[in-house]
Amino acid sequence: MKEVAVIGVGMTNFGELWNKSIKDIFVEAALKAIDNAGVDHIDSMYIGTMSGGLFVGQEHIGAVMADYLGMNPVPATRVESACASGGTAFRQAYFEVASGSSEIVLASGVEKMTDGVDVTAALATAADQEYEVYNGVTFPGLYAMIANAHMHQYKTTREQLAAVAVKNHRNGKNNPNAQFRNEITIEQVLNSTLVADPLRLLDCSPVSDGGAAVILCSMELAKQFTDSPVRVIASAQASDTISLYERDSLTTLKAVSDAAAKAYKQAELKPDNIDIAEVHDCFTIAEIVVSEDLGFFEKGCGGAAVEEGKTSLEGQIPINTSGGLKSKGHPVGATGIAQIIELYEQLTGQAGKRQVKDARIGLAQNMGGSGASCTINILEAV
Ligand code: COA
Repeated sequence: MKEVAVIGVGMTNFGELWNKSIKDIFVEAALKAIDNAGVDHIDSMYIGTMSGGLFVGQEHIGAVMADYLGMNPVPATRVESACASGGTAFRQAYFEVASGSSEIVLASGVEKMTDGVDVTAALATAADQEYEVYNGVTFPGLYAMIANAHMHQYKTTREQLAAVAVKNHRNGKNNPNAQFRNEITIEQVLNSTLVADPLRLLDCSPVSDGGAAVILCSMELAKQFTDSPVRVIASAQASDTISLYERDSLTTLKAVSDAAAKAYKQAELKPDNIDIAEVHDCFTIAEIVVSEDLGFFEKGCGGAAVEEGKTSLEGQIPINTSGGLKSKGHPVGATGIAQIIELYEQLTGQAGKRQVKDARIGLAQNMGGSGASCTINILEAV
């Protein structure tokens, strides 16, 4: 296997992009990445999209995007793993370069969610239709069950959940691509509209449009394009039961701990060695559970850790320096690639006011549904 590098990145703003189609959004992100990397061609492309069909009536996303990017006959493959589609697309691109079958590969993600469909119903197609959706539960409800279990078992408090949203909005304020660039307070979170008890509006990631793309090539070739490539040192993936009711515990996301074990083994690292992490905070409770399942904190201590500032920019392990899904936005297929972009900017010292001092190793954790699929990619500054 060849060593693989990320050599360029590009993304659109995340938010309500009323005047842009899914094709416009993809092309804008892809061209920015190609330009940023300085490559004159790509050999192959992967596009993570959860549901072009349900959100905008467009399937056959691979061919559509290659065509609009003017890249025919380059092979273009759509990758779907619900909200983990982006992370999974990155992993496919990684393997294509690592195997030596392509030299320069574009990994991307795109979603257009605000065009008027019933987004909650469309998103819920990623849950178990028979046992969950038929009975009326959707993602806010599923994560509310996880939150209630965590609060009951570990005495995690409502304020600790709110502290995740407050921190992520604070970080997102300094991210020019973020959907919400306003700071919020604990009181505002606690007084926002109830969505699914105990989760409130400001505990939820928003509905978003957006695209993100990165360029990968071998470490050997990377030297021709940049003095500061970022090395991919692990790429892991795991699956879990699609339904929450089948799990032994509601307070652990097993696909996250399983993927993390594989990723740490591949990179020969321990959780302590990670300098920064982008994690899948689709709801505030998700960031707390994931921070424990990645081994950053003991089980049950994730809530206290965020409240004590351990995950803030200056903390022991800065989490979601980009603003996370909560503030940056969550155009589902694009999210996993946007996480890689934040790591790239941090590891190459380009994160501006969000910059974490001396960040050398970053981890991106992207998951689908209520954690039935999870990818973890670890990157290292060279
Ligand atoms: N955070 C902060 N503000 C939000 C927000 C969020 N998550 N969602 C909406 N808003 C704001 C809007 O900008 C709008 O503000 P304005 O009145 O100043 O324009 C206001 O709140 C109302 O927005 P609206 O679109 O009517 O909200 P909604 O009630 O239709 O949707 C949620 C709110 C939380 C239900 C929706 O964002 C949601 O479903 N989020 C979860 C998405 C999800 O499940 N993703 C997959 C995860 S697995």
